[in-house]
Amino acid sequence: MRSANPVAIYLKDYQLPSYLLESTDLHFELYEDYTLVHSRLQLRRSEDCAVDAPLWLHGEGLELLAVSLDGETLPLDRYTVTDEGLEVASVPERFLLECSTRILPQENTALDGLYKSRSMFCTQCEAHGFRKITYYLDRPDVMSVFTVTIEADKSRYPVLLSNGNLKACDDIEGGRHRATWHDPFPKPAYLFALVAGDLHFIEDAFRTCSGRDVCLRIYVEQKDLGKCDHAMRSLKHSMRWDEEVYGREYDLDIFNIVAVDDFNMGAMENKGLNIFNSSCVLCSPETTTDQGFQRVESIVAHEYFHNWSGNRVTCRDWFQLSLKEGFTVFRDASFSADMGSATVRRVEEVNVLRTSQFAEDAGPMAHPVRPESVIEINNFYTVTVYEKGAELVRMLHTLLGPEAFRRGSDLYFERHDGQAVTCEDFVRAMEDASGTDLVQFRNWYSQAGTPLLTVRDEYDADAGRYTLHVTQSCPPTPGQASKQPFVIPLAMGLLGEAGNLPLHLANAEPDPDTADNTRCVLVLDQAQQSFVFEQVKEKPVPSLLRGFSAPVRLDYGFTKADLYALMSRDDDGFVRWDSAQALATRVIQDVEKQIQGSATVVVDPMLTGAWRGLLSDESIDPAMVAEMITLPGENYLAELASHTAGANVDTIHNARWAVQAEIARTCSGQLLETYHRLAQDEPYAPSADQVAARSLRNTCLEYLGCALGVHLELALEQFDTASNMTDRLAALRVIVFYGEEAQRERALDQFYRDWRHDTLVINQWFSLQAAMPLGDTLARVRELLLHPAFDLRNPNKVRALVSVFTGQNPVHFHRVDGQGYQFLGDMVAKLDGSNPQLASRLVVPLTKWHNYRGRADLMCAQLERIALLPDLSPDVFELVKKSLDAREPAQAGSR
Ligand code: BES
Ligand code: ZN
Repeated sequence: MRSANPVAIYLKDYQLPSYLLESTDLHFELYEDYTLVHSRLQLRRSEDCAVDAPLWLHGEGLELLAVSLDGETLPLDRYTVTDEGLEVASVPERFLLECSTRILPQENTALDGLYKSRSMFCTQCEAHGFRKITYYLDRPDVMSVFTVTIEADKSRYPVLLSNGNLKACDDIEGGRHRATWHDPFPKPAYLFALVAGDLHFIEDAFRTCSGRDVCLRIYVEQKDLGKCDHAMRSLKHSMRWDEEVYGREYDLDIFNIVAVDDFNMGAMENKGLNIFNSSCVLCSPETTTDQGFQRVESIVAHEYFHNWSGNRVTCRDWFQLSLKEGFTVFRDASFSADMGSATVRRVEEVNVLRTSQFAEDAGPMAHPVRPESVIEINNFYTVTVYEKGAELVRMLHTLLGPEAFRRGSDLYFERHDGQAVTCEDFVRAMEDASGTDLVQFRNWYSQAGTPLLTVRDEYDADAGRYTLHVTQSCPPTPGQASKQPFVIPLAMGLLGEAGNLPLHLANAEPDPDTADNTRCVLVLDQAQQSFVFEQVKEKPVPSLLRGFSAPVRLDYGFTKADLYALMSRDDDGFVRWDSAQALATRVIQDVEKQIQGSATVVVDPMLTGAWRGLLSDESIDPAMVAEMITLPGENYLAELASHTAGANVDTIHNARWAVQAEIARTCSGQLLETYHRLAQDEPYAPSADQVAARSLRNTCLEYLGCALGVHLELALEQFDTASNMTDRLAALRVIVFYGEEAQRERALDQFYRDWRHDTLVINQWFSLQAAMPLGDTLARVRELLLHPAFDLRNPNKVRALVSVFTGQNPVHFHRVDGQGYQFLGDMVAKLDGSNPQLASRLVVPLTKWHNYRGRADLMCAQLERIALLPDLSPDVFELVKKSLDAREPAQAGSR
């Protein structure tokens, strides 16, 4: 039973552990209806701890069978068992504690701790899963060497895996067998893993920079053996990259990856035994899109990189989560940028930041990258901790430069190897290695909210002087009314008629390291600052926030002509994309106003002209053209509107649709020409060139299909003849979104019949239907919940149908009758009892009620309904409560 009012814990209350572990010995007996866990913990009182301090071990949902201390069974009056753990009153300075517990993995639908996914046993222990396996010091700053023995039926579970190296395996009576694993690297419990199942593997080898051979294996169900090659290739690339770019060598002799179907997250970095959601490791050209291939590559890299940024150097407490996640996201993003088109990757990251992270920062769940208080830690695996956290590391890289940054990371790994540390330790290593004062930079870790840069300029033609006046501010967030200025690297240039101008910043030495004198980084550290450029021969257009050098919003007051100039001629690829997006945003917003005023819709021909120019410019990477001509998404447009009058999902949708259709009509010649020009006949490869061509070609297909019925034929033909899932699914999407009812039902049926044997492909089929703009999509989604291929216990299925509907179909989710919200309320109610982590991720869209004009009451009504559910999990409770609390002050105002 859960406590009625879960309590928050605070970073400021952190205390060193009272007891430490010298070694952990675990013995698992796996049976069909329960599992026995026997632990032998060698414990020691820590130096500055009081002699009479009781020993407290975490434990949840365990049945304690026996407990002994130094070989003697503990009498009942020596210990207490509660819902949350086990306390032993008086213990010696050094002792062996042995526990036997019984757990029920088969009934573990929360997928946290030891559970069964189909026919295999597996674990997920981050953040607090280990305490559901046995009584333990389940905190990341308590590390220990693990020895693990697993015993199970040999025919059902021929493969038995844990962390580290295999020490022994043998057959025992009753058709059972056992294996013993030993991990020589001390680790916190959250990195423990166990797998038992009928698994098959592909194997490869990697020779490290010091010449050691590492055996690499990917374990999957037999039917999936053909879908592992890309992950294996990605793993080897990651291992090489981490040696070359960070000087980090792998440390064990084996590295295993296991794919499981039921998994709450994407993947987990358990030491030497990464466990992956099968959707994040399996791929093949026939079943996986280009995006899917890229996702596998970056997740494999992410989890591998954690071996240093997370495992060798781990977190002192969970408030420091961004120490490992932010840094590792930065590392995997740099890796992906090196593997493919860097600018395209950056654009994708910025889309996530602007759409999701900025919205989080502006809502009731806003929290600093290093949060100060949490109720349920699982709620803090957020875009802020991950993506904004990665941006902080990126800003350090920009401010320090690549060499000093590398010295900083070397110092960090060397100084803290084998330790559990804090974000502060990371920044201090960067500071010490570079000699740069980062005192003020630390504000990024402690202050929530997205800073706003307001930029104004002046040009004095006679003096040839151009001045930028920059103001920074940051809106209040829960618990933080006012903020100190941040240190913001503002990468910039100046654009003249013939290209970027040389920069002569007054009172600044030219930087001898940069050969390129047309770009520089202004370091903002005050509320208001001015920067003067000399010898500026013409009035320039400022090219600001190049490469998105800081996670901020920018207000300059560009004219459409400025944006057109930047998107056409600036040197910086990111700024070109950003300006195209800004131009499109303006035009969509104009159309929105026309729709609201019932005026005739007129799409500014500057936009369609610009798109024609982009389509016919073969000098630009097709992947970039695709990103540039893709209109800003409805969620991003809604986020922008939240800073003014609030979002109206219907007018946003209709305006965006109208602009898209107008582009299709006025650019049809270029769209068709590009579509045909980019047809490919080589065999599929997820290579940068091919991915780029498919991406632009399918973007053209969508434009052509959206407005011009005649071109739907192209989509129908592509659907029938495609040789890979990228093209097939892109065609299906066009048919389903823009085709006639009979066409779309036929295509959907066909697709289902062709792919019903592949559960990951069927997830795509669910998602596409959940995102449909036409028809009664909610009714369809409700019906699909009953489809034989749907399974409420499988998080991938729930996300494919429910999260895609609530997150990617704003018009239907925000139905004016509130049915979309009611549906989400139903789903949260249904799932909270079985899988609270999943339920609390599902509820997030309801917490964004403040963004949606005229819908706040309906959304909050569902939050209130959820708040009243009996036995609500702390996970959902925290989000619902924070979201409803934020309502009170707002209601007092004028809404
Ligand atoms: N350590 C996390 C997995 C995790 C998250 C476990 C939350 C328990 C609770 C892992 O390294 C991770 O961050 N995975 C991401 C993918 C990654 C590419 C950002 C995920 O699972 O989404
Ligand atoms: Zn991670």
